[in-house]
Amino acid sequence: MGRVNFFPAARENRGIASESILRLTFALSSLGRFYADHMDPRIYYFLHVFSIILLTGFTFAIAASPQKGKKKFMAIITGILSLVALVAGAGLMSKMHNNNWGQGWVIIKILAWLFVSGLGGMAYKKSKSFVQTGLIVAVGVAVYMVYFRPF
Ligand code: HEM
Repeated sequence: MGRVNFFPAARENRGIASESILRLTFALSSLGRFYADHMDPRIYYFLHVFSIILLTGFTFAIAASPQKGKKKFMAIITGILSLVALVAGAGLMSKMHNNNWGQGWVIIKILAWLFVSGLGGMAYKKSKSFVQTGLIVAVGVAVYMVYFRPF
C-alpha cells in the first residue's frame, strides 16, 4: 500500500516545494475544518452577541463625543468587533441554519450589520441624532428579525 497522492498535478512537474506548500495548506485546512465541526455553537452565540453589544456601545460613545484623536483607535476596535460579529454569525448560520443564507431575515440582518458597522465612521461627519437613531432602528430591526423571523 503506497501513500495517497492528494496532489498528482504538483507531483508531475512542480517539484518538492510547491507540493509541500500544498500539503501544508491541506493539513491546515483540515485542522480548521476539524475545529469548526467540533465547535460548540454556544461559543458562536457568545461571540456574536458580545461583539454586537460592544460594537453598539462603542458606536454610541463615538456619536456622543467624536474626537479626532481617538478616531484610529475607534476604527480598529469597532472594525474588529464588527468582523467578530459577522464571523460568529456565519458560524451560527452553519450550525443552526444549514448555511441557508437566502432567507429574508438573514439578508435583512446582514444589511443591518453593514449599516451599524458603517455608523462609527459616519459619526465623525453626520449629526449625533442620525447615528443614535440609526443604531436604535438597525439593532432593533436585527433583533426583531432573529426572534420573529417574519420571512
Ligand atoms: C446589527 C446586527 C445584528 C444583531 C443586533 C444581531 C443580534 C442577534 C441576536 C440578539 C441573536 C440571538 C441570540 C439568541 O438569543 O439565541 C442573534 C442570533 C443569530 N444571528 Fe445575529 N445579529 C446581527 C447580525 C447578524 C448577521 C450579519 C448574521 C449573519 C451572518 C447573523 C446571524 C445570526 C444567526 C444565524 C443567529 C442564530 C439564530 C438562531 O438561533 O437560530 N446576525 N443575532
